[in-house]
Amino acid sequence: VQEISTIGQLRHQLNQTQAAGQSIGFVPTMGALHAGHMSLIERARNENDCVVVSIFVNPLQFGKNEDLNKYPRLIENDRELTERAGVDFLFVPSVDEMYPGRTEDNTGILTTISVSKLTRTMEGALRPGHFDGVATVVGKLFSIVGPCRAYFGEKDWQQLGVIRRMVNDLSMPVDVVGCETVRETDGLALSSRNVYLHPEARASAVRLSQALFGSRDLISQGERSVATITDYIVTAITTHNVVVNYADIVNADFVSLIDVEPGARICVSASVWGTNLIDNVGLPL
Ligand code: PAF
Repeated sequence: VQEISTIGQLRHQLNQTQAAGQSIGFVPTMGALHAGHMSLIERARNENDCVVVSIFVNPLQFGKNEDLNKYPRLIENDRELTERAGVDFLFVPSVDEMYPGRTEDNTGILTTISVSKLTRTMEGALRPGHFDGVATVVGKLFSIVGPCRAYFGEKDWQQLGVIRRMVNDLSMPVDVVGCETVRETDGLALSSRNVYLHPEARASAVRLSQALFGSRDLISQGERSVATITDYIVTAITTHNVVVNYADIVNADFVSLIDVEPGARICVSASVWGTNLIDNVGLPL
């Protein structure tokens, strides 16, 4: 793996890749790579000639009281994992490289991307400004990497939808590939934030996926009321130091449904001993 820290250098390398007619698979990450990321990288490796992974803890997508400063940074380990996975280029820019002129409160960043409507509910409502930060950094990374296939996990279901919409609306030359969530054997969705969970919190965290699978069973038994199902989810997850932020069943625009529809998505966020975790499952079409 060749590590690159400047935009100019990555562009230079990828221009050559493109000129040689090679396809590029791109996996944007914030590092602290786990088996979920590795499954994206593996897929990118299988489907493209050249694989680029970026690691950038994007300050623009963290709220004031969120975990930007304590977000896990494990670059040595990430380097080794990407090397072993046969990644060609590891892009690790500094904050200054990505956002020249940024100030501590981010007001020095004058140009941002904002996807409206889709970002009003769920994570967008819970974390104001979060998706502007995600869209801006992903748009910027796409502009740096150029035409590519880009791989994202379905765990961040709303993020995936927002990025697809941005790519469509702004005619970006990127093929967005959504990949299934990777889970621990007990069902817990893999997340870089799982490192925050001490054993008692870890034991409670599994409630999210259990509640989602349980709610899908209720639906397959004939339950149709979203209110009834989300009440079930909240009850199944809530316990000592675990608070549900939202539980919802939404359509393709992330708008709450009254009655369950085929293809809807059941989404949940909970604070587990102070760590915000999200998860979701789909319903058959
Ligand atoms: O999902 C993530 O890790 C981040 O939101 C992303 C897409 C890398 C943008 O910073």
